[in-house]
Parts: sequence; C-alpha cells; structure tokens
Amino acid sequence: MFLTNFLRWLDATHFSQWMRGSILAEPIVESTHVLTLTLFLGFAVLLDLRLLGVVMRKRPVSEVLDQFNPYLMWGFAVMIVSGVLLFSGDPLSFYSTIFFKIKMILLVFAGLNVLIFNATIRKKVAEWDLAAKTPRAAKIAAVVSLLLWVAIVAAGRAIAYALPPP
Ligand code: HEM
Repeated sequence: MFLTNFLRWLDATHFSQWMRGSILAEPIVESTHVLTLTLFLGFAVLLDLRLLGVVMRKRPVSEVLDQFNPYLMWGFAVMIVSGVLLFSGDPLSFYSTIFFKIKMILLVFAGLNVLIFNATIRKKVAEWDLAAKTPRAAKIAAVVSLLLWVAIVAAGRAIAYALPPP
C-alpha cells in the first residue's frame, strides 16, 4: 500500500509531469541509460571473460580488476541515476510491468554476486593472480554475472513492450 501511494505521489510531481511532457527529457535520459550500458557492460563482460580465463590471460587478475573498477563503479552509478530518472517520468506505468519488477530483482542478485566475490575469492587473488587456471569460485562468479546481465538487459528491453496504453 505504501509503495502504491508513493508511486502515485511521484507520478503527480512537477518533475514527473515535466519528464512526460518534455520532447527532449526522456530521449536524453534514455540515451544516457543505453550509452552508459555499453561502457558498463563492456567492462563487466571483459572482466568476466578474464575470470573465465578466456581473454587477457597474461595479465594479472588484480591488475585488470584495479584498472576496470573505476569504469565499472562510475558506469553503474550513471545507470542507477539515469534509470531512476527514467522511472520517475512514468512510475505507475513502468512499475505495472512484470519486466521492471524482474529487472529490479535481478539487479539485487547481480549486486549480491559482486559482494560475495569481493568478500571471498577476491581477497585471495594474490594466490591465483597469474595462475594458468582461475579458481572454480571465480569461474562461477563470472558465469552467474554474465547470465544475470544478459537477463537484466533483456528485461530492460522488454519493459517498453509491456507498458499499458497511454
Ligand atoms: C546497471 C543497471 C541497469 C542496467 C544494465 C539497465 C539496462 C536497461 C536496458 C538495456 C534497457 C532498455 C533500453 C532500451 O532498449 O530502450 C533499460 C530500460 C529501462 N530501465 Fe534500466 N538498467 C539498469 C538500471 C535501472 C534502474 C536502477 C532503473 C530504475 C530504478 C531502471 C529503469 C529503466 C526503465 C524505466 C527502462 C524503460 C525505458 C523505456 O522503455 O522507456 N534501469 N534498462
């Protein structure tokens, strides 16, 4: 009940009405969402492929992690901000779609996967930094990450097709 009231309140705000009425606002925010995706997901997939031992095998994993982290962090932050702005432009319609709900749940799992990786296998990276084969736990984290991001992108794309008629 609280969530419905909150979404109704958000939908009635000047900002939300402005986003819906403006010719440029939503396309600019959506383009930011999609363009930042290329940066964020590009680095996330490359990192997962390194953890799977597919690419950059001669480069220490810790070096790749350190180099990619700023782009991953900034990319993720811009995805969240642009996503929230997009959502606040038509909260009731977006929330009514099953794909938006699925996407938010998958985002939580993607975040948990990163937290578990950082709290476990990453702490021991010095032991396997240049190993010919990366540990099983690192491979599992990479596969889970790849599957989750594919599902998140698919759910994000499907939102537009499940929106109620205006
Ligand atoms: C890293 C996290 C995220 C990823 C990878 C992601 C990915 C995507 C993708 C691929 C689309 C489809 C874009 C298109 O083809 O037009 C999309 C749309 C959308 N995203 Fe995200 N997103 C993320 C975070 C968020 C967050 C946190 C929110 C809101 C709280 C959000 C709200 C939306 C909405 C409302 C749309 C639909 C836009 C429309 O169809 O008009 N996203 N997202």
